[in-house]
Amino acid sequence: MSAIFSNLLNDLAKLPERRIFGRVVGVQGMLVEIGGAQTNLSVGDRCAVIARDGRPITCEVIGFRAARALLMPFSVLDGVGLGCRAEVIEGVPAIYPTRDWLGRVINAMGEAVDGKGALPAGERAVAIRGRPPSAHSRQRVGGKLDLGVRAINTFLTCCRGQRMGIFAGSGVGKSSVMSMFIRNTNADVIVMGLVGERGREAREFIEDDLGEEGLKRAVTVVATSDESPLMRRQAAYMTLAVAEYFRDQGLDVLCLMDSVTRFAMAQREISLSAGEPPASKGYTPTVFAELPKLLERAGPGVEGSGSITGLFTVLVEGDDHNEPISDAVRGILDGHIVLDRAIAERGRYPAINILRSVSRTMPGCNSPAENALVAKGRRLMAAYENMAELIRLGAYRKGSDPETDTAIHYHPALDAFLTQAKTEGTDLATGYAMLEAALAPQIEMSPPPMAAKGFPAPSRSFQPSRSPAPPRKRD
Ligand SMILES: Nc1ncnc2c1ncn2[C@@H]1O[C@H](COP(=O)(O)OP(=O)(O)O)[C@@H](O)[C@H]1O
Ligand SMILES: [Mg+2]
Repeated sequence: MSAIFSNLLNDLAKLPERRIFGRVVGVQGMLVEIGGAQTNLSVGDRCAVIARDGRPITCEVIGFRAARALLMPFSVLDGVGLGCRAEVIEGVPAIYPTRDWLGRVINAMGEAVDGKGALPAGERAVAIRGRPPSAHSRQRVGGKLDLGVRAINTFLTCCRGQRMGIFAGSGVGKSSVMSMFIRNTNADVIVMGLVGERGREAREFIEDDLGEEGLKRAVTVVATSDESPLMRRQAAYMTLAVAEYFRDQGLDVLCLMDSVTRFAMAQREISLSAGEPPASKGYTPTVFAELPKLLERAGPGVEGSGSITGLFTVLVEGDDHNEPISDAVRGILDGHIVLDRAIAERGRYPAINILRSVSRTMPGCNSPAENALVAKGRRLMAAYENMAELIRLGAYRKGSDPETDTAIHYHPALDAFLTQAKTEGTDLATGYAMLEAALAPQIEMSPPPMAAKGFPAPSRSFQPSRSPAPPRKRD
């Protein structure tokens, strides 16, 4: 009963007090020009353009030209012509989430698209384009977040409230590694944004990679590549808005977005339509202004609220890690995980290139013993990598360089440690114990432990540090 009542109240609150409208005076591609209401509109405002058959088409103001407002539609413009009415929609676009949204798949408008009926409405409005808390009011990043992938948990540890990028070309394993996080993380809640993927990919991800078990821990927001650029861009905003709702409930949220590149591409389409000149690789200055606004919404919350740990994938086209979006995103985030096609081709999944990846908050959240272990592993990998060509060609002669000999000795164990099946989860403590076992001093000539028959039992001598952040009170 009270739910019905609060729904009614929400609907009432959303009703405008008066109606302001203009008329369509021009349509060009995806751009609608409105005359008559331009002084009542600002960028980001919405109008319902009424098509000839009476259907309202929600549009958003993206700019002004020659005393006309320029709008783009969230759907197709079929049936819109000159003289059609454009009603101004007042109020800030908002959603009313509840915890019952967990397990559901929604679109960029916050409507259910999973065929499980309408979404229940909560009591509190959450703005779709929310602002991040100011830097000084935010807490520091918290203790370690378990992501269930041992290569990341140990070498690239992610803290609560940290923002990391996952950089990779297509088909190198971004979606797979995200599904591993979803199934194995110890975050309270997961919000997953699938932005601009092909419909088939999004469906396969939801049905195969996530499955029922992954799906029920998460709210999934989807906008596929065939949807309008406004929908694709808004799917990214929606993902953060849902994450902000759970954060304000005091929960630690893991927010995953695949991919932030598609968000940038959607913004590029929108800006180019509005006549903004392109800057770098066709991307407009607005793209580079919007990226930090979006990514900053993830991060620690204010005192008394939870946190949003953000993991954002970046599609590196043609495996060029210096393209403008990669560069911009790398500069904003607190770390990056690079997936390498060459490693994937060798069959090692997840294909993380540890040496090219970094977690900027990690040294501070580790115990000295953990830092020493990780540094040793990195040193051995770097030594191996320096000579990798020669070793693979068989041109390296054992005994020429003691450091390389040691690196070759540990290589199979480290490689086995970094390999993890999609269905396998490894928690933080087990990950450190496995790494310690992989790097344990070996008697010369004995076979590496993991290459022979699985991993040895975790050593008792090694005590992984506990999370440094004090437990937070939950409501
Ligand atoms: N952990 C893994 N174990 C085995 N194969 C994997 C693993 N991760 C990815 N793959 C392989 O890589 C392919 C592409 O992965 P996917 O996650 O779809 O890439 P992307 O999202 O980057 O396009 C998968 O079809 C799968 O065969
Ligand atoms: Mg993918």
